[in-house]
Amino acid sequence: MDLPPVGLGTMGIDDPSAIATALDAGYRHLDTAQIYENESVVGEGLADSPVPREDVTLATKLWVDSLAPEDVEPGTQASLDRLGVDRVDLLYVHRPRGGYDPEGTMAALEAVHAEGLTEHLAVSNFTPEQYERAQSNCDVALVANQIEFHPLFQQADLLEHARAHEYTVVAYSPLAGGEVFDVPEIQAIADKHDASPAAVSIAWVLSHENVVTIPKASSREHLEANLAARELQLDPEDIERIDGIEREVELFPE
Ligand SMILES: NC(=O)c1ccc[n+]([C@@H]2O[C@H](COP(=O)([O-])OP(=O)(O)OC[C@H]3O[C@@H](n4cnc5c(N)ncnc54)[C@H](OP(=O)(O)O)[C@@H]3O)[C@@H](O)[C@H]2O)c1
Repeated sequence: MDLPPVGLGTMGIDDPSAIATALDAGYRHLDTAQIYENESVVGEGLADSPVPREDVTLATKLWVDSLAPEDVEPGTQASLDRLGVDRVDLLYVHRPRGGYDPEGTMAALEAVHAEGLTEHLAVSNFTPEQYERAQSNCDVALVANQIEFHPLFQQADLLEHARAHEYTVVAYSPLAGGEVFDVPEIQAIADKHDASPAAVSIAWVLSHENVVTIPKASSREHLEANLAARELQLDPEDIERIDGIEREVELFPE
């Protein structure tokens, strides 16, 4: 599926005007989840915006308590009701935990897809092995795996797997929730390009094939800056220098 390089992560956004501002600034991919408890906020922002619904990729995620096979359809319907839409574009399994069962859950997701409640299916926080097991139980392509990916948590094996199996990596927490701002290597590269550490981090994430990202921002200034980071061209030596950072900061471990 064709996702824009920079979408909006909405975890923590509780004001519909931030969503409408993001759409006005040019965002066309909105990422929410049941567990963020803001699907109605995202839906309200989308409804308030003059940007047509069909121009926006709307994604949500079934939390672990909606993954038992009998809970998938009612859980999806509840999300659609909160979002105020008939279907989403992307429906994720948020984590392979709780009621998740590779056979039953994936069959239930296939049914939800056949019913037209979502355009595409995807997974999040899956290892390559978990992705393959899920896909082998599902006739519908799993178009993405949404994972934590930033300069302080580089998942080379997973990226390689995504390239080999031709699915998109949706990189979450591309700024490591702000942790990247104080990293000397990133600060130095930012100074060299007269850019911000946030822009450098996003540009490094986007320098990888098959990867799009969803930074969370609430102010218009941050929203616009993160979208503009698409334009920042890092030099090969900048990318190598960031590749060489060996701090492992995983914000959302299993
Ligand atoms: N699938 C999963 O399990 C999972 C887990 C975690 C997150 N996610 C998704 O990924 C999204 C992003 O991750 P995240 O919220 O953890 O972290 P993040 O995007 O790495 O960082 C967000 C933080 O950086 C600040 N910020 C954003 N742009 C900035 C800029 N240009 N300059 C300075 N500061 C800036 C934001 O502040 P302001 O808000 O003040 O702008 C916020 O405090 C989430 O919203 C969610 O949609 C998914």
